[in-house]
Amino acid sequence: MRRFIALLAPLLITASIAQANILNDTVKPMIVGGKEVDPDVTDVSYIVHFSGGCGGSIIGDKWILTAAHCSSIFRTPLTGGGSDIYAPSRVKLKVKRGHIHPDYKDRASSSDYALVELETPIDFAATGLSKIEIADANFEKDGFIDPGTMLTVYGWGAMNESGFPNPDRIRYVDVPVVSREVANSRQAYNGKIDATMIPAGYAEGGLDSCQGDSGGPLVLKDGPHGYPVQVGIVSWGHGCARKNKYGVYSNIAVGVEWIQKVMRENP
Ligand code: ARG
Repeated sequence: MRRFIALLAPLLITASIAQANILNDTVKPMIVGGKEVDPDVTDVSYIVHFSGGCGGSIIGDKWILTAAHCSSIFRTPLTGGGSDIYAPSRVKLKVKRGHIHPDYKDRASSSDYALVELETPIDFAATGLSKIEIADANFEKDGFIDPGTMLTVYGWGAMNESGFPNPDRIRYVDVPVVSREVANSRQAYNGKIDATMIPAGYAEGGLDSCQGDSGGPLVLKDGPHGYPVQVGIVSWGHGCARKNKYGVYSNIAVGVEWIQKVMRENP
């Protein structure tokens, strides 16, 4: 703990009392515990931001994949392109409508999948935006997201549970997949994790996604074909980066059938 306090000393100068308490209650602070993405090294051109406070990913020329629980902010300005959400060069995307998974009920529930349909298709060449491949229905069965597999989550969300400060530039953190058995244990989520969810994170806490990262992508950097594949969507968690309270992500391998159906039916 002392080591973390030392590392954080410069941050604590501007931190609130509330934040100091969070540091004591949880493990280490700051996505939480992650790093700023270097856009020269990591492609973030498929990641979009709803200014109401959610992320999303481009999976087709007029399709954004995000979380159903973000639906109240689908009408807030949506932009893509680069790591800095305040950069004037950002590409504005116009939303036509949202499609919510029929099994989704409310926050922290299962099937937290949504698609946002754009008014006009993205011109990838002209905008520099790109799309990401998503997991297929066999992804889990084929062992690509077995417990222990390292995945990367990206977002402009809070760097600690108290929600301050929020970054301008996109951040990432690497988190291992956790078995549903472990995540369903009493000290973790006590049976709330179902097949539509992927739990990922550390029993000791410290590294996690957080408020504002919702809807953003959880990615297997080195997919089966050698390029990144999105396997999850930031969905929920009890606090952020708390001990045994893993981050919970919507499981794309389970939602993909619905995703493809919506895209097919709305060409
Ligand atoms: N529901 C949150 C949001 O709307 C994301 C929570 C993720 N929490 C976590 N501990 N990984 O931004």
